[in-house]
Amino acid sequence: MDESVLAAARAAFPAGQSSVTLGAVVHGGHTHPEPTVRLALPMMNRHGLIAGATGTGKTKTLQLMAEQLSAAGVPVFLADVKGDVSGVAAPGESSPRVTQRATETGYTWTPTGYPVEFLSLTGAHGAQMRATVSSFGPLLLAKVLGLNETQASVLAMVFKYADDRGLLLLDFSDLRSVLQYLSGEGASELAEYGGMAKQTVGVLLREMVQLEQQGAGAFFGEPEFDLNDLLQVAPDGRGVMSVLELQDVQDKPALSSTFMMWMLARLYHTLPEVGDLDKPKLVFFFDEAHLLFEGASPAFREQVEQVARLIRSKGVGVFFVTQSPKDVPADILAQLGNRVQHALRAFTPDDDKALRAAARTFPKTKFYDIEETLTTLGIGEALVTVLDTKGVPTQPFAVRMIPPSSRMSPLAPAELQQRVMSSAQVREYAKPVDRESAREMLAARAAEAARVTSEVESRIPTQSPQTSRGRATREPPTALEQALRSPLARTVAGVVTRGLMGALLGGTRRRRR
Ligand SMILES: Nc1ncnc2c1ncn2[C@@H]1O[C@H](COP(=O)(O)OP(=O)(O)OP(=O)(O)O)[C@@H](O)[C@H]1O
Ligand SMILES: [Mg+2]
Repeated sequence: MDESVLAAARAAFPAGQSSVTLGAVVHGGHTHPEPTVRLALPMMNRHGLIAGATGTGKTKTLQLMAEQLSAAGVPVFLADVKGDVSGVAAPGESSPRVTQRATETGYTWTPTGYPVEFLSLTGAHGAQMRATVSSFGPLLLAKVLGLNETQASVLAMVFKYADDRGLLLLDFSDLRSVLQYLSGEGASELAEYGGMAKQTVGVLLREMVQLEQQGAGAFFGEPEFDLNDLLQVAPDGRGVMSVLELQDVQDKPALSSTFMMWMLARLYHTLPEVGDLDKPKLVFFFDEAHLLFEGASPAFREQVEQVARLIRSKGVGVFFVTQSPKDVPADILAQLGNRVQHALRAFTPDDDKALRAAARTFPKTKFYDIEETLTTLGIGEALVTVLDTKGVPTQPFAVRMIPPSSRMSPLAPAELQQRVMSSAQVREYAKPVDRESAREMLAARAAEAARVTSEVESRIPTQSPQTSRGRATREPPTALEQALRSPLARTVAGVVTRGLMGALLGGTRRRRR
C-alpha cells in the first residue's frame, strides 16, 4: 500500500491514546493492518454520525463501538430498533469470515459478552420505561400526537393551566381529566388562556385517547425511569449497556424516537457540568435518528439542536445512526465531529444529490476521491473522519471495520426472557404507582362542588348571620385549594411546576440553572 497513506494515518491516529478501535486503513483495494483507525475516548462527547445505506454495517459499527466503550468502563445506551442488537449480551461466534476480517484488520478477536440491562416501552422485553406526562412536556407530547402548531400551542397552554392550578399531570388519565374538564364544565376558565378554543381542546382529547387505546398509557406515569440508571458500571468495572428493545413498538416510531429524546433532555437537566473528561460518562446511540426529525416542527428541531449542543459539557456523547446524513438537520449535523460513513447508493438523481452533499461535509484529502469511495465501500467498511485530541477533524480514511466480539445475531427469545426475568432493575420498575394527581383532584373538586351546592341549598331557609358572613364574602375552599394548602402538596406542586414545561428547554421554558 502507498506508504504516504500509511504515514498520514499514523500521524492522524497516534498510538498510545485511550481510544476505541474502528478498523484498518483501506486504499487502492488493499487493507493494511497497521495503524488502526481510532476514536479518542476524550473526544467521544463531541458526538458523531454513523450513516450508510441499508445493510452496509451501521448496526455492527455501533455494536463494536459500544463493546469497547463498555470495556473502558463507559456506560452506553443503545436502541434496538430491529431486534438485532440484543446479541451484545452474549459472546460472538467464530466463523471463517470473522477470523478473516480480524486478520485483515490486525485485530485480536476474543469472543466476549457484555453486561446488559434491557429496557422496554411495553415492559415485555425489559424494564418498563416510564415518564410522567409533565416531565415529558407539551413539545414532546405534541410530536408523539402528531399535532399541528396551533394544536401544539394549545397543548402547551393546557400544561400551563394545570401548572397554574397545581394539577399534577402524572399519567394519561390526569391529562385526560384536565382536557375533559376544559372542554366541558371548565371551558369558561379558558378565557384567561389567550382564547384557547374549546374545540381544539376537544381535538387534543381525541388524539390522546387514540394514543392511549394503542397502549401508550403504560409508559406515562410513575415510577418515572431514573436516568441515573443509564450510568451504571458493572462490578467488574465495565460500563453497563442499556439496550432499549423496540421491536414491539415498531408501529409507533414517533413514540420511540420521542422517548429517546426525552431521555437525552432529562439527562441534560439532571447531570452536572463536568467540562472535559478522560472518557465520556455515557455514550448514547440514537438509532433510526431520521424518525426524530421526520415531521418535526422548527421549535422541536431547535430544542434537539440545543440539547445536543449543551449535553456535551455534561460528559454525554451522542451518536446519531441513520441511512443518510441528509436525514439530520444541518445545524445538528454540523455538531457531529466524529463521522463513520458507510457506503451510500446513488441510484436516483436525488441519491446523487445527497451523495454530493455528503461528500462535501468531509475534510479534504489527496488520497481518496470521496464520492467514488462513498459508492464503492464494501459491507463493513466506512469512510471515517474523527476529531483529534485538539478537536480538529482528521483527514478521511477508508476503513475496514473490525468484527464485533459479541454475538452478531440477536439473543434467542428464551435467552432474552431469562435475562429480563433475572434483572433487579426490571422488577424495580414493574409496578406502576398511582398517587394523587390531577385526575383525583378534579374528581374531588367535582365532588366538593356537588357537596357545597347541596349544603348551600339545604341552608337557604335557615341561614345564621355568622355563616352567611363567612360564606357570602368568600367561596368555600375547594378540596383542591385545601389540598394545595397542605405543605406536602406545596412541595410536590413546586417540584412539578419546575419540571412542567417538560424535558425540553425552549421559548416557553421557565428559567433554569
Ligand atoms: N464490522 C463488521 N464485522 C463483521 N461483519 C459485518 C460488519 N459490518 C457489517 N457486517 C456484515 O454485514 C451485515 C449487515 O450489517 P448491519 O446489520 O450492521 O447493517 P445496517 O447498516 O445496520 O443495516 P440496516 O440499515 O438494514 O439496519 C451484518 O449482518 C454482517 O454480516
Ligand atoms: Mg441496522
